Amino acid sequence: MRPGRWFRCIAAGASVVLVQVILQPAAVAQQGGGECLVCHVTLDDDALSEPATAWEADTHNLTGLTCTGCHGGDAATAIADVAHAGMVATPTRGNTPDMCGRCHANADFMRDYDPDIRIDQLERYYTSRHGQRLLEGDDGVATCVDCHSAHSIQSSVETTSLTHPLNIPSTCGSCHADEEHMSSYGIATDQLDEYERSIHWKMVAEEGDLSSPVCNDCHGNHGAVPPGHSSVGRVCGECHFQIETFFAASPHDSVFVGLDRPGCATCHGNHDIQVAEDEQFGLGDRSTCTGAGCHTEQDEGGVAAARMKLLVDSLVRAYGRSDSILHEAELAGMPVDQARFELAQVQTALVSARAVMHSARLDSVGAKIDEGLALADAGFGAGEGAFVELSSRRLGLAVSAVVIFVLVIGLILRIRELEMG
Ligand code: HEC
Ligand code: HEC
Ligand code: HEC
Ligand code: HEC
Ligand code: HEC
Ligand code: HEC
Ligand code: HEC
Ligand code: HEC
Repeated sequence: MRPGRWFRCIAAGASVVLVQVILQPAAVAQQGGGECLVCHVTLDDDALSEPATAWEADTHNLTGLTCTGCHGGDAATAIADVAHAGMVATPTRGNTPDMCGRCHANADFMRDYDPDIRIDQLERYYTSRHGQRLLEGDDGVATCVDCHSAHSIQSSVETTSLTHPLNIPSTCGSCHADEEHMSSYGIATDQLDEYERSIHWKMVAEEGDLSSPVCNDCHGNHGAVPPGHSSVGRVCGECHFQIETFFAASPHDSVFVGLDRPGCATCHGNHDIQVAEDEQFGLGDRSTCTGAGCHTEQDEGGVAAARMKLLVDSLVRAYGRSDSILHEAELAGMPVDQARFELAQVQTALVSARAVMHSARLDSVGAKIDEGLALADAGFGAGEGAFVELSSRRLGLAVSAVVIFVLVIGLILRIRELEMG
């Protein structure tokens, strides 16, 4: 072998070793934040150390990304100036979405981590009121870090995440319930207060029912916009599907669009939605039909509403009557399990009638009520039957008591007769 070759061989070997020596510590140092983290946790200024202390729980840390993924710079050196060279120090609020979008809107990059991951957050964000105002130079709207934080970003399944359903109302409320922050925008700041009084929040907070909506279920995560009046039903209908179908087929649907009324929210409100009650329809004080000057007892709709209320009331009464006779039969010790089971279907019919009521069609409500009334009557009949059986059992008991009494007397007389005889 010629000396030139020896030389090239040694040089190649040495450079491999050299590259390993240089890169090895760098690779180790980069793990989880590298020298940026090592130095920043020690800094006295909270603004400089907090990003490093928060970082432990950050999903990007757990995924193996480092500070440089967002900031750039060099995480392999312990010399601040070298580390900071070329870094995006503190992005402006206007630049933040693009900082995140650099990865999150990059399909090739993201799919290496998770083939099913969504990559539409940035695009959708710019369709939202938040994103559009940001593009106009408004810094007061939400950017990615207001809803996710900058250094302790977590998936929404974590209970400590700002986007976990239990934390969403306060995340949105941090601006929307802050009068000072919102004062220049001319939108109300009562959404959080009202929402926290609603049945929806009670279900989430008290029952742990995560199928009940928090802010982003109605407003979207990234495309946060108020639902347009004609699309309110669609938002509610994602969960209240059957009722939306009835409402969409009702004359109200198009009339409400014409009057610029917000569909379901016209009668139920949007943030302080409460458990529905029968008093909310018909012509009484609390009726939604007569609210906002819509119906009176004279017009066709008002007459139909009053009729529907009478029908529903009649079924509620029929149910009550059957329920109490079965209750008394139970107290008297009669077995009425089967009748109870059948009576429960009256409640189902009532629920259906209240849902069908959204179609604003008297005949459809009437049909449901008739079904319920037939079941309630059968329940009452079963109760009466139980009492008939009870009294015939009592009669039987009395008759046999008399028979036994007579037999005993007869026996005593017979014994006396034998003794005397
Ligand atoms: C040896 C310590 C040290 C290292 C290593 C270091 N920093 Fe810093 N960093 C500082 C100090 C001190 C400051 C505040 C003074 C300054 O701006 O230089 C600072 C400031 C910053 C700021 C705020 C700049 C501003 O203008 O508000 C950011 C962001 C930052 N560092 C990120 C990083 C990142 C990312 C890395 C790794 C690539 C890193 N740092 C590595 C010490 C360090
Ligand atoms: C997911 C993107 C992301 C990652 C990763 C990230 N940062 Fe930041 N960082 C930001 C954003 C955005 C800001 C702008 C300030 C804010 O909104 O909190 C920022 C601000 C900072 C600041 C300035 C804080 C201030 O109040 O002036 C420091 C210092 C900093 N980051 C350090 C780090 C360090 C150290 C790491 C790694 C341990 C890191 N960052 C990782 C996005 C990130
Ligand atoms: C360097 C690329 C990169 C940057 C920049 C980046 N991310 Fe990420 N982010 C990722 C990766 C990779 C994951 C993990 C994906 C996975 O495995 O599910 C992730 C995960 C997330 C998750 C959790 C997703 C979930 O539900 O599990 C959120 C939320 C998130 N990032 C928000 C942000 C925000 C906000 C910013 C800007 C402040 C940002 N990211 C900047 C790459 C990045
Ligand atoms: C107004 C609040 C808000 C803003 C602004 C926001 N997000 Fe989100 N983001 C959410 C919520 C809420 C979720 C959780 C959805 C869920 O329940 O799974 C989420 C989920 C995510 C996820 C997980 C995957 C997914 O799409 O469900 C990523 C990644 C993410 N956001 C990135 C971003 C980025 C990047 C930006 C800025 C361009 C941003 N977000 C802006 C509220 C927001
Ligand atoms: C950093 C503060 C901030 C956070 C956090 C925030 N918002 Fe906003 N949001 C605003 C501001 C400011 C506006 C007003 C923009 C405008 O219309 O001029 C706005 C507008 C809106 C609008 C449009 C209102 C209208 O009538 O124009 C909706 C809907 C909305 N936000 C919902 C949400 C939801 C849902 C969340 C939480 C997932 C949230 N916001 C988090 C600041 C914030
Ligand atoms: C059950 C669905 C639902 C939930 C949950 C919900 N909203 Fe709304 N929100 C609506 C509807 C519908 C409108 C529009 C009403 C209209 O067009 O008149 C609206 C309107 C808004 C507006 C526009 C201003 C206003 O008051 O009309 C903001 C801001 C807003 N919501 C924020 C929030 C916040 C913050 C939360 C959580 C605390 C939240 N919303 C929870 C359905 C909902
Ligand atoms: C994410 C799913 C979801 C969305 C979206 C939603 N709801 Fe609900 N809603 C629920 C759950 C869960 C309950 C509580 C269980 C129940 O009673 O059905 C509930 C309860 C209700 C109740 C009380 C029901 C009762 O028993 O008296 C009304 C009224 C209501 N929602 C109306 C609305 C309206 C109007 C909208 C749209 C502005 C809406 N909901 C959006 C899931 C949702
Ligand atoms: C014209 C007024 C009006 C409109 C519009 C309206 N509702 Fe109702 N809704 C009522 C009344 C009144 C009740 C009370 C029924 C009862 O309990 O007797 C009710 C009851 C409900 C219930 C509870 C049903 C039950 O089982 O007790 C839900 C859920 C509901 N509505 C959802 C919706 C949704 C979703 C929309 C839009 C698609 C909507 N409503 C549109 C008036 C309305």
